Amino acid sequence: MKDAAPQTIYLSDYQPFGFIVDSVHLTFRLAPTATRVISRIAFRPNPAAQSRDFFLHGEQLSLIDAKLDGAAVSPELTPTGLRLDVPDAPFVFETEVEISPETNTALEGLYMSNGMYCTQCEAEGFRKITYYPDRPDVMSVFTVRIEGDLPVLLSNGNPVAQGDGWAEWHDPWPKPAYLFALVGGELLNHPDTFTTKSGKPVELNIWVRPGDEDKCAFGMEALKKSMKWDEDVYGREYDLDIFNIVAVDDFNMGAMENKGLNIFNSSCVLASPDTSTDMNFERIEAIIAHEYFHNWTGNRITCRDWFQLCLKEGLTVFRDSQFTADMRSAPVKRISDVIQLRARQFREDNGPLAHPVRPESFVEINNFYTATVYEKGAELIGMLKTLVGDEAYENALNLYFDRHDGDAATIEDWLQVFEDATGRDLSQFKRWYSQAGTPRLSVSEEYADGTYTLTFRQSTPPTPSQPVKDPRVIPIAVGLLNPNGDEVVPTTVLEMTEAEQSFAFDGLAVRPVPSILRGFSAPVILQRDTTNEERAFLLAHDTDPFNKWESGRALARDGLLHMIRDSAAPDMAYLEALTAVVRDDAQDPAFRALAMGLPSQDDLAQALVDLGEIPDPQAIWQALETLRQATAQHMQDLLPRIYAQYQVDAPFQPDAEQSGARALANAALALLSRLDGGAQAQKQYDAADNMTQQLAAFGCLLSAGKGQAATKAFYERWKHDRLVIDKWFTMQIVQADPDQAADVTAALTQHPDFTMKNPNRFRATLGALAMSPAGFHHASGKGYALLADWLIQLDPLNPQTTARMCSAFETWRRYDADRQALIATQLDRILEIDTLSRDTREMVERIRK
Ligand code: PHE
Ligand code: ZN
Repeated sequence: MKDAAPQTIYLSDYQPFGFIVDSVHLTFRLAPTATRVISRIAFRPNPAAQSRDFFLHGEQLSLIDAKLDGAAVSPELTPTGLRLDVPDAPFVFETEVEISPETNTALEGLYMSNGMYCTQCEAEGFRKITYYPDRPDVMSVFTVRIEGDLPVLLSNGNPVAQGDGWAEWHDPWPKPAYLFALVGGELLNHPDTFTTKSGKPVELNIWVRPGDEDKCAFGMEALKKSMKWDEDVYGREYDLDIFNIVAVDDFNMGAMENKGLNIFNSSCVLASPDTSTDMNFERIEAIIAHEYFHNWTGNRITCRDWFQLCLKEGLTVFRDSQFTADMRSAPVKRISDVIQLRARQFREDNGPLAHPVRPESFVEINNFYTATVYEKGAELIGMLKTLVGDEAYENALNLYFDRHDGDAATIEDWLQVFEDATGRDLSQFKRWYSQAGTPRLSVSEEYADGTYTLTFRQSTPPTPSQPVKDPRVIPIAVGLLNPNGDEVVPTTVLEMTEAEQSFAFDGLAVRPVPSILRGFSAPVILQRDTTNEERAFLLAHDTDPFNKWESGRALARDGLLHMIRDSAAPDMAYLEALTAVVRDDAQDPAFRALAMGLPSQDDLAQALVDLGEIPDPQAIWQALETLRQATAQHMQDLLPRIYAQYQVDAPFQPDAEQSGARALANAALALLSRLDGGAQAQKQYDAADNMTQQLAAFGCLLSAGKGQAATKAFYERWKHDRLVIDKWFTMQIVQADPDQAADVTAALTQHPDFTMKNPNRFRATLGALAMSPAGFHHASGKGYALLADWLIQLDPLNPQTTARMCSAFETWRRYDADRQALIATQLDRILEIDTLSRDTREMVERIRK
């Protein structure tokens, strides 16, 4: 069936639903193509609502039967739901519908994955299960009976009763329908228990397909750590007798926080040293924490409407970052988060898809689960905390939980809590939620008579439908160093509120060196002219680990831009300064590995745009290659020492310490491979007893053009393991020569293991191409054509994943006229399809504008 004509939804149109839902009883009779869903819902008029329009959402449902207070009725059916005349008094509405999970390839609603039934309801998937007011401000208590010839039948809340082929669940906490979940399958569990701080025992399970049992232990430890951390740091206890996690292979996103029954993309929970890299382990720990933390920030306090998505997502990302910082290294976590923020959110904020952290309109809400809502949303919480201080933040959060527990809340509620807890006026801060775009913050300095003055100017380029921006509150953390390296002014937070503003520091005997935007205290682009010497000085002496790293990064970027624009040689100041950091064993190996990283191709492209130039993806790639080669040569004496010294002999642990050592050794290996043609990498590949070592070596071999044997061997070794084979697909593409990346990708789409029905595999292949700018933006246009071909094929099956991957094209206006024309052709080809999904159409239209 074709989607109904797309409608734009506006924040300003919000109206409460006309009815309150007192209880929901659901019965599921599971069958692959003919599942019956029987609902009994108790409604009563909502005194707070204006309208009494009884409209229930429902899509792709076959209505079998409907009853009002026990009497048969015939509701009016529309393409998006049903409507009925109802009494102005409490009533019970019952329906029976039929749905077909097996043919549901969109992975939204009730669907099947490898013989297992599972659901995904956020944001608006529940309406594909039964008729319901599918909006987050309608909360109710659910009782669920599942009938099916399967050993494991799960839903939200606590188990009530079960027998052969059936189970009943009751969730005492009122929740919106998007948090509903159901699972049925032949699953095995990895069980454990947790006792909350008030002494309540909780049964914990991770449910997986047979064969995956040995990949659950790490996730379980992460879950217990998360539960403890939320008690210790936020005072939040778990509130049911049982907490279940289920791993599913076919999933559009990372994971989902359904009440008491989190459902995870198997790539975000299954872990073992053999098959997962250090980065996988860290990410799994963070995602488990994220979903668990949603129990309070998302579930107990949910969102009034989908415009408030950042209320739960920004806060929960912020909380999971705090957790990772506590479990591992805080500076390393901060640096990694900023790298991600720049790669994904700045890119979005500076292109046609830019939107406020709290958008004001949308066509398809699934298109707004973005880096802006999540990552910039988290940055806003971090800024608030910086502005009010740690203690006030804690008070405000306690007030938030006290005041809004059980509510479907708004950003206004959230800010009000901070205003009440601190007495501050946050009306200007609110602009961060309503204005899209990344502010540019430029700085000038003056020193006279012992007074040092920093003058800042902020401005934000126009974004779609927001031509003019008002100044925002920007917390700028600054420290000052003496030329001998001593810190003369420790970190101080300057609160900028004007478009242009100066801050003076007195009593300074010599002109200091400023360290500005410490800890990346605001998500802005800092523009400051300075010298190589000063950047190298800060890389060596800054006491703020983020800015220490940032100085090295800026040095690298300036040098690369110089190489790209003026065909300059690699910058010696950078090579010297980096070598000093890498050599210094007193510094954290993880930090040194991060310092060895270079700005991404995308970062450099945006930097060139900011300089008024048209980026050439090939030239950017070439400059990075040249710099890496020069770095390898410059460090040729040091690299073997670093490589050898940071080998880990102890049994594999995916902790911060070991993974830091491996990251540094593997960064050294990548450079060494440029000198020895991959000899050392081959040795490491052959000897590797964990995926971190094996995959790093595989990458080096491919990049050295010596990957043929390893490509075969890797496949043979891992063909039974879908998550490892995803890595195999990706690595061949990201390490391919840019001239061949599209051809390598095209060939891999013909591999028997390629399937577009599995989003992980699709992303591992086409997503990998999109992440390789020089290959994707190949001047021939073959990368564009290939991606468009596959998006067109995927759209009828899975609109959500298709739409999300359209963002590969979002940077197109940066490029030259030829590339723009090639991309426009592909975008238009997609738009010409009249059965195109609403999801994909909205994305492509926004990009094409
Ligand atoms: N709410 C999920 C999370 O952030 C993400 C998600 C959104 C998953 C929509 C599925 C569908 O943890
Ligand atoms: Zn989330």
